[in-house]
Amino acid sequence: MNILAIESSCDETAAAVVENGRRVLSSVVATQIPLHRPYSGVVPEIASRSHVRTINDVVSEALRKSKAGWNGAPHVSKTKIDAIAVTVGPGLVGSLLVGKMTAEALGWAHGVPVYGVNHIEGHLLSPLLEFPDFKPPFLGLIASGGHTELILAKQWGHYFLIGKTRDDAAGEAFDKVAKMLSLGYPGGPAIDQLAKRGRAERCPFPRAWIPGTWDFSFSGLKTAVLYTLRSPKGRRLKKADICAGFQEAVVDVLVQKTLALARKLNVKSIVVGGGVAANSRLRERLLSRENSGFRVYLSSPAMSTDNAAMIGAAAYFKLKAGRLKPGRLDVRSQIFLPKYPAVIQGFTPTTHAPPS
Ligand code: KG4
Ligand code: ZN
Repeated sequence: MNILAIESSCDETAAAVVENGRRVLSSVVATQIPLHRPYSGVVPEIASRSHVRTINDVVSEALRKSKAGWNGAPHVSKTKIDAIAVTVGPGLVGSLLVGKMTAEALGWAHGVPVYGVNHIEGHLLSPLLEFPDFKPPFLGLIASGGHTELILAKQWGHYFLIGKTRDDAAGEAFDKVAKMLSLGYPGGPAIDQLAKRGRAERCPFPRAWIPGTWDFSFSGLKTAVLYTLRSPKGRRLKKADICAGFQEAVVDVLVQKTLALARKLNVKSIVVGGGVAANSRLRERLLSRENSGFRVYLSSPAMSTDNAAMIGAAAYFKLKAGRLKPGRLDVRSQIFLPKYPAVIQGFTPTTHAPPS
């Protein structure tokens, strides 16, 4: 089964063709980063207008590269598009609408069913595209510009939210700290690069463990960076050391909480998805030998950040599990996953905040 997938929830216009949920026949991503850079963040109105301008070309390019065509079109190869999948939330409503309307128009014109997919589910299932053995149950850490969540997936399409950020998402903290340091937008990749030349112990920051819960918080860390920059000591610090210290504080909390929860739930597979999963220090810590009791599924950076192939993969496996029905699509800025029904004894940090 070949699925044409469309993703336009934020600032990437993306389309892909995915065969049987695992094989990427094409994946095209048109980024809007240069348009948003002057504002140091995504401007929703600019994002939706840019999706309108770009989406038809991106879809055509994905079809051309995959050599797939529509049913009944005589001039194309035997590879046919059987269904369309599109992100319906969470995301920016204006941006989501562009993807939804494109998908619905194509579905109507070519007589194929259209399915709506949750963006977070796409990130959670992105390892399908690169790891042939990947399947539930698994614990997912989603860390992106808008989300930081710990999600338990028991079966295909069956998820429970266990922890989430109480304020900023991890990616947002990277972007805001990069702005304070005049490193440009998006901040995550810039901090990641500069941190490689710095030493975290020269500029330690406190960790917000929020003991007893599986939630996260990153806004206090942002404030700690701001106050450090304003202090006489901070003015003498190298940017690279500040980046390393900040990055270590974010990564430490993400890694320790995820591993502790996986142990508590006795889940052996861990998925890390979303843009922050591209962070080199996070990847290094997750794949370190200390975690050999777990299988950590880390997609390549191209499949960790926003793309449409992950939406096609998620749609295929949900369809196969009978958990996806065609019908009227409803886009929403927030789609909440059900909370875990049982109480899991809260997190206890094993290390403490370094002295500041
Ligand atoms: O998943 P994504 O592409 O879009 C959203 O759904 O938000 O994530 C984008 C976020 C941005 O905040 C960006 O700064 C962050 O992911 N990011 C990174 C890295 N690459 C992207 N954060 C830390 N290190 C990176 N290498
Ligand atoms: Zn995303």
